[in-house]
Amino acid sequence: MTLSSTTSRPLIAGNWKMNGLSAALDEARAVAAALESQASTARVAIFPPSTLLSRLSEAVRGSPVATGAQDCHGKSSGAHTGDISAEMILDAGGSLVICGHSERRTDHGETSAQVAGKAEAAAAAGLEPIVCVGETLETREAGDAVAFVVAQVRESLPASLAGKPFNLAYEPLWAIGTGRTASVDNIVEMHAAIRAELAAIFGEQGKVVPILYGGSVKPENAGEILAAAEVGGALVGGASLKATDFLAIIRAA
Ligand code: PGA
Repeated sequence: MTLSSTTSRPLIAGNWKMNGLSAALDEARAVAAALESQASTARVAIFPPSTLLSRLSEAVRGSPVATGAQDCHGKSSGAHTGDISAEMILDAGGSLVICGHSERRTDHGETSAQVAGKAEAAAAAGLEPIVCVGETLETREAGDAVAFVVAQVRESLPASLAGKPFNLAYEPLWAIGTGRTASVDNIVEMHAAIRAELAAIFGEQGKVVPILYGGSVKPENAGEILAAAEVGGALVGGASLKATDFLAIIRAA
């Protein structure tokens, strides 16, 4: 067993993406109520669209469910139409933020340098970032997946994260929303490479930074994935939208 898996609780993070109107708050309330009546070994966080963050944070306040945002800007305020800052997330009741999700990198052209700026701003404001990395199918088939992801780790993590709480999430793009999951062998190989890079950058802290897996995690495969070496949690998209599925994943941790 690794140091990381013995010293920290797994983090199960539900990324709602661009899904959820007011009625979806009931799903979050159901997750919170279930965890209040039966505690989980995992830490749990929900990342609703920013329109719901404040109300969802209020709805689960005092429960074991933490909340966060799906993105933040690298600056604390200013003329950046449509963006939200780390301070605003904190003010809305969030305590975490996803930085550099592949959908942000692809849809909005975010570079690893920009992602590092976001993670820096998040940590400086007191949020716990989850920094995402992952390769395309083309890169995997070319045999370059590990080198690509390790470079993304290096470029997406600012040195200022040293001593601050943060998480990495490995999400192969070809496994996101496709129903296709990376094999446990793929996951173990990549997480080991990420762990070595984190240790090289951050020393002792790098040996225990949680590394989450994401990409079509569902109740049926969560137990096997979460038991794999160096898997410190899961970043769950589609299966986090329904309380019953999300709770089944939480219970598998
Ligand atoms: P998915 O999304 O679980 O729907 O594949 C995961 C993610 O993108 O965070």
